[in-house]
Amino acid sequence: MTNMFQVDRFFRMEFTSEIRKITDPIYQKISKVLPEIEWSVHAPYIYRINQLKKEKNAIILAHNYQTPEIYHGIADVSADSLALAIEASKTNADLIVMCGVHFMAETAKLMNPQKKVLLPDMNAGCSLSSSITGRDVRLLKEKYPGVPIVSYINTSADVKAETDICCTSANAVKIVNSLGVKKIIFLPDDYLAKYVALQTNVEIISWKGTCIVHEQFNEKEINEIRLNNPGIKIIAHPECPPDVIKASDFAGSTTGMIKYVEDHQPKKVMMVTECSMSDNVQIENPNVKFVKPCNLCPHMKKITLPKILDCLENETNEIIMSNETIEKARRSVERMAKVGR
Ligand code: 13P
Ligand code: SF4
Repeated sequence: MTNMFQVDRFFRMEFTSEIRKITDPIYQKISKVLPEIEWSVHAPYIYRINQLKKEKNAIILAHNYQTPEIYHGIADVSADSLALAIEASKTNADLIVMCGVHFMAETAKLMNPQKKVLLPDMNAGCSLSSSITGRDVRLLKEKYPGVPIVSYINTSADVKAETDICCTSANAVKIVNSLGVKKIIFLPDDYLAKYVALQTNVEIISWKGTCIVHEQFNEKEINEIRLNNPGIKIIAHPECPPDVIKASDFAGSTTGMIKYVEDHQPKKVMMVTECSMSDNVQIENPNVKFVKPCNLCPHMKKITLPKILDCLENETNEIIMSNETIEKARRSVERMAKVGR
């Protein structure tokens, strides 16, 4: 049986001539990476989401790995984890919709606890975040008393609550050096820990977590791509294995990688990271040719326009945490924000 709501939703999801006209400037921007047939499906959602954002004074924060129709169609801010956390702390919007994964939505809530934060799919997790629990960190503290804990932002609020200071891939080295100690525990990304260890004299005890997207890249593949594409610039995310970073021309956070392309305008580039980012960056850099990896993050890809519309319209999937967790976890993120990028 069809109820009124479904009829209404179906009606509004039609690709009318008005929607075509209003959304056309967005399509002109992303047509290079999105076939027209897909646009007829996305455009009505983009139109309605942008309308609802205004009606509800909502802000959409999107990670750089979101698909082009989200990144260019509805996001108010597209950024790396560090900038998303900072934006969340500054916004005057009544509602924050995080187009990213669960730890990013939790971090937004920590940074602005009075605001309602929504995540379009509560199952959008992260292999790094799920590799460690708050209890694991308490056990580490018992094993290494007095050794400061630096946690990657890709962790749950429970882990952040047990953490001295957070970091992201944009500031990990700076954060570790800022502590002025000889030894730290760095968790949960073992590869990021190794990347940091190469750039500091601080002794690092690491956890064995990995990112299921970046761990798949290997040095042989990078060398083959270089061989087949003379002059190519290869830029990697620090969650990649150390041999991949070594074989690359640059390593940095997702925004660091975007900035590299914008500043250097290489003739050809490969971004050794999640695949959607190349599409998003290609749109803004038409003179750069991209060799695209095909590694997608299954968690990031759980976020879709219909789910965003549904959670914005019905204000579902709210991030809820106890005041105690918020207070404890927020301290570690605020300490990081003070050190900056
Ligand atoms: P950035 O902080 O560099 O955006 O990375 C987040 C992430 O999850 C990468 O896999
Ligand atoms: Fe987590 Fe890796 Fe996905 Fe980033 S790409 S959210 S680190 S699983």
